[in-house]
Amino acid sequence: MHDSLQALLAKAPGELDALRTRPEFEAAKARYVGPHGEFTALLKQLGTVPKEERPAMGRLVNEAKARLQELLDAALRRIADAEIAAQLGPAVDPTLPSPDPGPGTYHPLTQVREEMSRILRKAGFSVVEGPEVETEYYCFDALNTPADHPARDAQDTFYFPAGARFGNVSRKVEGERYLLRTHTSSVQIRTMLKGPPPLRVISPGRVYRRDTTDATHSANFHQLEGLYVDRNVTVRDLKAILDYIFASLLGKDTKTRFRPHYFSYTEPSFEVDLSARHLPKVNKEWIEIGGCGMVDPAVFEAVGYDPEVWTGYAFGMGLERLAMLVYGIDDIRYFYQNDVRFLKQFA
Ligand code: DAH
Repeated sequence: MHDSLQALLAKAPGELDALRTRPEFEAAKARYVGPHGEFTALLKQLGTVPKEERPAMGRLVNEAKARLQELLDAALRRIADAEIAAQLGPAVDPTLPSPDPGPGTYHPLTQVREEMSRILRKAGFSVVEGPEVETEYYCFDALNTPADHPARDAQDTFYFPAGARFGNVSRKVEGERYLLRTHTSSVQIRTMLKGPPPLRVISPGRVYRRDTTDATHSANFHQLEGLYVDRNVTVRDLKAILDYIFASLLGKDTKTRFRPHYFSYTEPSFEVDLSARHLPKVNKEWIEIGGCGMVDPAVFEAVGYDPEVWTGYAFGMGLERLAMLVYGIDDIRYFYQNDVRFLKQFA
């Protein structure tokens, strides 16, 4: 028995070190210490050893058992390490220089947003922000948009479940529903509720609608909102600021035109088209770019401004649409794919 144990211990290291996979390991383990294993068979012979040799043999068996366990543990550890290494792939040396060492650049939407902010700051506007999670009051009610207005339809708007709470988004009415803002016009209300007129603000940001994605639609996109409140503001001021914005952004040959429209928070209301035939890839004479109008007295009343004293204009436009014109991009989906081959073109 002594010799058999020695022989077992002599061949085990070489055999167990050669194991490469879990099935190999399980088979080897069974061969040594399983119910029909070689070591198990030797153990059974312990009873046949003469009594006086038994303590010494017992010690030897215990040592052999511990040694086998060590070898099995080491083999399993090595196999597990190799599995992780295979998952991680070839080692990367993070100290090597990058194969693409050029400086990063801004996303085209960021560039257009910053350019528009720069243009409007020159005209006295400051930039304000509002939350993307909104409540029905700021997004609709205070903007004179009643509960049966189509924009409030659950088919068009992302509502949160009734129990959802957002501690950092203040609600005007206890229990009113949260939603993802459908336009940046909600920031008009939050801004006016913060302080008295006059004021001149813009607010760029992300908005959300239940739209099916295609080359010109996306369920989230970006708008730029503008609001000017003062005494004696007229439609001429509104037309002048929009002419100024688009001429600054797209060149002095750009023309703008107003078409009568309906928005519940402005009266009168217009859709704004621009004409920029001098831009490459612009193949239409007039391109719709946003909405605007004179702030409806009902909106002033909602925020506690006296509509007999204060007048104002507001406008809103899509930033993707503008970026597509500026850069000649023909599919809105490129903006969100984070493909460097696309992004690199706008350095
Ligand atoms: N909120 C409108 C939209 O999402 C755009 C808009 C129209 C904004 C008229 C305005 C406005 O400020 O006066 O389509």
